[in-house]
Amino acid sequence: MIDLVATARSLFAPGKGILAADSSILTATAHLASYGIGAGEEMRRQYRDLFFGTEGIEQYLSGVILFFESLLQKGNDGKPFPALLVARGILPGVKVDLGTEPMNASTHELITRGLLDLPERLVAYKRQGAVFTKWRAVIRIDGDQLPTTIAVHENIKRLAQYAKEAQAAGLVPILEPEVLYEGKHSRRHARAVIQKTLSTLFSALAEHSVDRASVILKTSMALSGSDSRRKDTPEEVAEDTLAVLLESVPRQIAGIVFLSGGQTPEQATDNLSAICRLSRAKGGTSWPLTFSYGRALQEEALAIWKGKEENVPAAREAFLARLAKVSAALK
Ligand code: 13P
Repeated sequence: MIDLVATARSLFAPGKGILAADSSILTATAHLASYGIGAGEEMRRQYRDLFFGTEGIEQYLSGVILFFESLLQKGNDGKPFPALLVARGILPGVKVDLGTEPMNASTHELITRGLLDLPERLVAYKRQGAVFTKWRAVIRIDGDQLPTTIAVHENIKRLAQYAKEAQAAGLVPILEPEVLYEGKHSRRHARAVIQKTLSTLFSALAEHSVDRASVILKTSMALSGSDSRRKDTPEEVAEDTLAVLLESVPRQIAGIVFLSGGQTPEQATDNLSAICRLSRAKGGTSWPLTFSYGRALQEEALAIWKGKEENVPAAREAFLARLAKVSAALK
């Protein structure tokens, strides 16, 4: 019997966090194309190997979230990616949602798919080496119009159902209700939407009898919208982010990880550092905090790599340098 609480807690080893390398085929293809990198499964495999094959990442990473395709791919050394990570003491996880689609009831909002065959897929992912999982819901802010209550409730209901299924399958659930950074909203507005989303989430977890002790929350920071022309200071972000988490998140969960959500690598590092500093100044929080960044950890390395073998060492150096900075932000 796997101890889910111990697994969840081990993702919060001091100074370590999670690399979110779980972009779907469509997202990864578009992301690579934006750096002039070609498409196809082999290119995606090389993209993943660039990061997972970097010597020394285990100093900074407790876990990596994979897209299910990568559970079956092999690194340049011939080892399957999950085994390669485990050999380094890094836990392999997997994104288990199947992406989003427009909601029938509110066509400008998205609902996350993937519950239908989830139990069978969880069994397969576990057999392929995953020990934790992630489900992402998307909450969009647009003035007073969005999010609608129905979009928040339906997305949260599915997150709770997913969490229940993951625990039943012996896999740790990371619940990611991402409140999007895109928009013209103020930081206070983002904070209010995060508050509503998280309160709805934790009521739903109670209704579905989800065991909180092995649940990890993956949250957005409270930020002024990316089109608001307002640049928050890290201290402002820390103040509102920590306040909303303290208001809305029960003490018993295993921990909280932050997504980078389109912030630059520097912004995501500085904001995390300010959040951790403020938390310490307040005497600490009942849940551990760390990062689970996708883009903010990978951008600099991808810009150097450009899909070329000869750029791999310099790209890996940039990746390690960013990891070291993000890890230092936790201290
Ligand atoms: P970002 O840090 O790029 O937001 O990625 C995190 C993630 O897991 C998105 O689903």
